[in-house]
Amino acid sequence: MTTADSGAVPGDGTPGAPAPAAAPRVVVVMGVAGTGKTTVGPLVADALGVPYAEGDDFHPPANIAKMSSGTPLDDADRAPWLDAIGAWARGRAGRGGVVSCSALKRAYRDRLRAAAPGVVFLHLTGDRELIAGRMAARKGHFMTTRLLDSQFATLEPLGADEAGVAVDVAPAAAVIAERAAAALRSI
Ligand SMILES: Nc1ncnc2c1ncn2[C@@H]1O[C@H](COP(=O)(O)OP(=O)(O)OP(=O)(O)O)[C@@H](O)[C@H]1O
Ligand SMILES: [Mg+2]
Repeated sequence: MTTADSGAVPGDGTPGAPAPAAAPRVVVVMGVAGTGKTTVGPLVADALGVPYAEGDDFHPPANIAKMSSGTPLDDADRAPWLDAIGAWARGRAGRGGVVSCSALKRAYRDRLRAAAPGVVFLHLTGDRELIAGRMAARKGHFMTTRLLDSQFATLEPLGADEAGVAVDVAPAAAVIAERAAAALRSI
């Protein structure tokens, strides 16, 4: 993860010349299930003035069939899905965009970066109990503790060398989006 003092677009070196505007970011909103990717992602896109794409929409039909039958996806299933998201991200290079994708493992993020080298990550982080409560409210029943536990067990947070920011999801969605957009503008 980078900090506010890195990644800035420098001027062209001509004394007195205005610094060129930074190219719009392509952002992947990541985090465990129920952390608010689908809720916050479009708000971040609006704040940045770029389009939003829902990561779930990139699954090939075989994955949808598998998930519909209650079978968890494995990493081989995820490869074409990640590649489709990566292709979208690459297509937005220089123009900006926001796409949701849990991207829990570094290997998944490596695959996205391989497809779209300039991509940055917005990690929505939150307390397990808070997220479990929101998931229960969304689905109208208690989600299985096991599913959320497995998501947290799988999660590999952004490394120090990964471009991105982490934002806590305790506040209202609009506040999260505002903080996220500000943090993303600063990297
Ligand atoms: N900041 C927030 N404050 C209150 N409720 C929220 C907030 N963010 C999300 N929610 C609610 O939490 C639930 C989960 O959010 P959402 O569906 O956006 O998560 P997600 O990360 O997209 O989950 P999934 O990985 O399952 O797609 C929804 O019911 C949503 O309305
Ligand atoms: Mg979602």
